[in-house]
Amino acid sequence: MDKLLIEGGQRLTGEAAISGAKNAALPLLTAALLTREPLVLTNVPALNDIGTMLKLLAQMGVRIERDGDTVTLDAAGLDNPVAPYELVKTMRASVLVLGPLAARCGEAKVSLPGGCAIGARPVDQHIKGLTAMGAEVTVEHGYVHAKSPKLKGARLFTDMVTVTGTENLMMAACLADGETVIENAAREPEVVDLANCLIAMGARISGAGTDVIRIQGVESLRGTTHRIMPDRIETGTYLCAAAATGGDIRLTNTSGCYLDAVIDKLMDAGCQVESARDTIRLKAPQRLTAVSIRTSPYPAFPTDMQAQFMAINAVAEGTAVIRETIFENRFMHAVELIRLGADIKIDGNTAFVTGRSRLDGATVMATDLRASASLVIAGLVAQGETLIERIYHLDRGYEGLEQKLAALGARVRRVK
Ligand code: EPZ
Repeated sequence: MDKLLIEGGQRLTGEAAISGAKNAALPLLTAALLTREPLVLTNVPALNDIGTMLKLLAQMGVRIERDGDTVTLDAAGLDNPVAPYELVKTMRASVLVLGPLAARCGEAKVSLPGGCAIGARPVDQHIKGLTAMGAEVTVEHGYVHAKSPKLKGARLFTDMVTVTGTENLMMAACLADGETVIENAAREPEVVDLANCLIAMGARISGAGTDVIRIQGVESLRGTTHRIMPDRIETGTYLCAAAATGGDIRLTNTSGCYLDAVIDKLMDAGCQVESARDTIRLKAPQRLTAVSIRTSPYPAFPTDMQAQFMAINAVAEGTAVIRETIFENRFMHAVELIRLGADIKIDGNTAFVTGRSRLDGATVMATDLRASASLVIAGLVAQGETLIERIYHLDRGYEGLEQKLAALGARVRRVK
């Protein structure tokens, strides 16, 4: 298993380009299942999760061509509406094929994703919505079976805000009979990016980005070409790395327009942030001021940036209170940060972080995607060498991480 070796103490300076958003690309890839015509996606990030999704779609009969960051998907020959456990267990976002398959084929057999490091992450809301649209959904032998001669539009209400739940139901509703209204819908920008692509494919959707999305079902959808939005969490991660190291960086192919809550907190911490049309610049102070955060659905502070902020608070002046309200077990990076000398106390879903003037390099272990990112940030500021194990977690969500960090002046390399 690969490891990442970081020699801490370098300020990050210079420029890095941000890749397409993983959490927009994943649902957009499954949208190809909704049409017999080719769907062309550009700015597709080269990530392990993308590879897994493409493998999953290919074994369903989808023809796939990749040319750099352009992926062409043709689901005309879709003949196997099954998502098997061995693929789904490695990436829970595989559940995103459920809605499109139920709508396009009238049946779907999708393995339950199983838990993951950060929590149980059930899919009951996905099932509740499809059932309300007339699908006959059973769960047996670890698989969700959905049968639906023709989905019917319905008024749906999700018990909590669910990003992929909203995306699954929005995609299913595109080909249903009549109008579907999704209330308490997720407002994440990735939901809007998906809706924009579906509309270009002929879907009739209004309200994406608000908590009420209306979809008028249509007979069929056509192909289109769609550029994937920039990855706001990758952007936020590099901003945090620069903030923690007293750096001054410019990120391109991105912007701050979907990161208001994060930028607000970075400015409270003492950073100067300037956002232009497709770039964002951050200049960090000599030492950060601790900032408390509370994760919540968009547009509030994103749970996917919580671990990174725990890392920057580990070296900030003062004490920060971090509340994680979305997932029940998303503090596993805390014990690893403590190995680097951080002063963190956990009480349920609240972490109390008292900044230290320095951290000391050590060997630490990545447990999930964003936890790994927080260990990288801490390693960049720790004195001496930090060795991060199990960095396959990082490869799931950060394209060319060590190359981009090295270009910003970090001393980092991948060791086998
Ligand atoms: C999406 O996951 C993202 N993944 C996650 O990013 C992100 O952390 C999460 O949204 C929250 O923003 C993708 O978009 C591929 P949820 P998702 O459904 O959709 C509970 C990353 O690091 N819930 O919004 O799976 C659930 O357990 C990943 O890139 C149910 O109880 O998250 C959680 O507590 C990690 N039943 C809460 O709702 C359901 O049917 C929010 O989950 C669905 C969700």
